[in-house]
Amino acid sequence: MNKIERLALFTSGGDAPGMNACVRAVVRTALSHDLRVYGILRGYQGMIEDEFKPLTSRSVSNIIQRGGTILKTARSKEFMTEAGMDKAYANLKSHQIDGIVAIGGDGTFKGAEAFCTRFPDIKIMGIPGTIDNDLSGTDYTLGFDTAVNTVIEAVDKIRDTAASHDRCFLIEVMGRDSGCIALWSGLAGGAEEILLPEKPTDFDVLVSKLEEGKGNNKTSSIILVAEGEKNGGAAEVADELKKRLPHYETKVTVLGHVQRGGSPSAFDRILGAKLGVWAVEALLSGDSRKMVGIRNGEKHFLPFSEASREQEPLDLELLRINNILSK
Ligand code: F6P
Repeated sequence: MNKIERLALFTSGGDAPGMNACVRAVVRTALSHDLRVYGILRGYQGMIEDEFKPLTSRSVSNIIQRGGTILKTARSKEFMTEAGMDKAYANLKSHQIDGIVAIGGDGTFKGAEAFCTRFPDIKIMGIPGTIDNDLSGTDYTLGFDTAVNTVIEAVDKIRDTAASHDRCFLIEVMGRDSGCIALWSGLAGGAEEILLPEKPTDFDVLVSKLEEGKGNNKTSSIILVAEGEKNGGAAEVADELKKRLPHYETKVTVLGHVQRGGSPSAFDRILGAKLGVWAVEALLSGDSRKMVGIRNGEKHFLPFSEASREQEPLDLELLRINNILSK
C-alpha cells in the first residue's frame, strides 16, 4: 500500500451548503495525520489550469457556517477529454499529490472514475455534495437538508398569500433530473400536489384532485413542481391548468438559486464533518475510487461506477403519504 503524503481537495458541480464545513473537516483531518494539504480552485478546471493553493488549519477557520464553497466550483468540459486529463495529471504530479478528495455530484464522480482508470496511481475518494440528493449510496447529500428548509420557508410564506386570495400557486423548485427536493418540501410544506421528473404528470388526475379539494371547501392550493417535470416546469403546467380550470386564479413562483445558497443547517454541517473525516481515513487506509456516504446513520462506501443518479430511486412512499394527507 502506497502511503499518502500530499492530499488535494476540490469542490465541483453545483455549490451546496455544507461544502465548506466538509472542506474544513477534510483539511483538519489530513493535517492531524501530518499530510501536506492543497486546495484546488474551481474543481477539475483548476486542476487543468494549475490553481493549487496550500491550506493550513487557519485557512479553514470561520467557514463552518458559510454557504457556497471557498474553493469555488465549476463544471469542466475540458476534463472530459484525454488532453484535459493529461494536463490535470501533470499538474498533480508537479505538486506531488498522491491522494484526492472530490466533493460533488454525479458528474464529479463520473470524472473521477474516468481519471482513476487512466491514472490508477492517483487515489481518489468522493463525498456527495449536491442539493439534489440524487446519488445512490447515501441517504443524504450535503446541502439537501438546508435546501429543503429554504424551500419550506418560502412555501410557508406563499401559503399566506394563497390562503388570503384563494389562489392556486405552482412553486417550482430545483431538480433537473430528480424530484427529491420537490417531494420532501412538498410533504413538509403540506402541498396539495407534487409533480416530479420521475413520474409523468396526469392532468386529468391533477384537475380532479383540485376540483375534489374545492368540493371539500379548500379555497387555495399549493403545487410543488420540480424543474425537471416533463411538461417543462411550473409555467408550462400553469398554462395547461389555466386552459382546463379557467375559473382558478393560478400563480407561478420559481424559487431558483435561492435554494443553493445560505448558511448550512446543523444537519449539513454534521454530515460534512463526518464525511470529511471518513473520506481522509479511507484514503489513508488505501481505499480509492469510491464515494463515502451515509446509510441508516452508518458510514457506507460505494464504487464511483455505481454512485450515479440513474440508480437512485425516488422514495415514492413519501408521495403516497402526501396523497393521503393532502385531502
Ligand atoms: O446542483 C444541482 C442543481 O441545483 C440542479 O437541480 C439544477 O438544475 C442545477 O443545479 C442548476 O445549476 P446551474 O445553475 O449551476 O447550472
